[in-house]
Amino acid sequence: MPLISPSLLSADFAFLKHDIDFINSSAADWFHLDIMDGVFVPNISFGLPLVSTIKKHAKKPLDVHLMIVNPDMYIERFKDAGADWLTVHIEACTHAHRTIQAIKKLGIKSGISLNPHTPINSIENIIADVDMVLIMSVNPGFGGQTFIPQSIQKIKDLKALITKTGSQALIQVDGGVDTINAAEIVNAGADVLVAGNAIFTSTDRYATVQVLKNL
Ligand code: DX5
Ligand code: ZN
Repeated sequence: MPLISPSLLSADFAFLKHDIDFINSSAADWFHLDIMDGVFVPNISFGLPLVSTIKKHAKKPLDVHLMIVNPDMYIERFKDAGADWLTVHIEACTHAHRTIQAIKKLGIKSGISLNPHTPINSIENIIADVDMVLIMSVNPGFGGQTFIPQSIQKIKDLKALITKTGSQALIQVDGGVDTINAAEIVNAGADVLVAGNAIFTSTDRYATVQVLKNL
């Protein structure tokens, strides 16, 4: 049974409280919050004030995915805003080991994310230190994109690395996850599924979350 982390990027921001309440009362486990700076990715989403606002109403952990350059500059502020999980991109970190240690020192869970072109072996030397690895299964920046099929092999390779090293890291998969491809993703080794479009555009969101949860 995977953990489900609906991405609020696909929510209706005019009725955000309504969508937060939906996640609170659904079978979902976490809130996935996508922070985009318009530099690391070609899109700008939302920032710290909205994370603090969501925190006030969320009854489940905030899973914050930073798609920003210089993440070290903002770690403490995202923790203060309410992040329970903080994931940074390996491509945005010159000193990823230091960044991960800084997140853990704040008493929250740390994640490292890999873009579709970034090989699994780039995190071999920090796999023992992270609480989660986020495999991007689309190029980050936008919701509603199509799952990149090669991600399946990447999840399997990551699972093998985690097993070999005895790491406790969870595998999170983000981008293009839906009720059709989710079973294959979970079978490949995913522990946490992020889904935006698949949940928020479905006619019965509660049922869609439940379908993903029941895998
Ligand atoms: C993409 C974000 C994802 C996105 C997923 O850059 O990291 O979290 O919101 O959206 P879907 O599920 O619609 O691909
Ligand atoms: Zn994300």
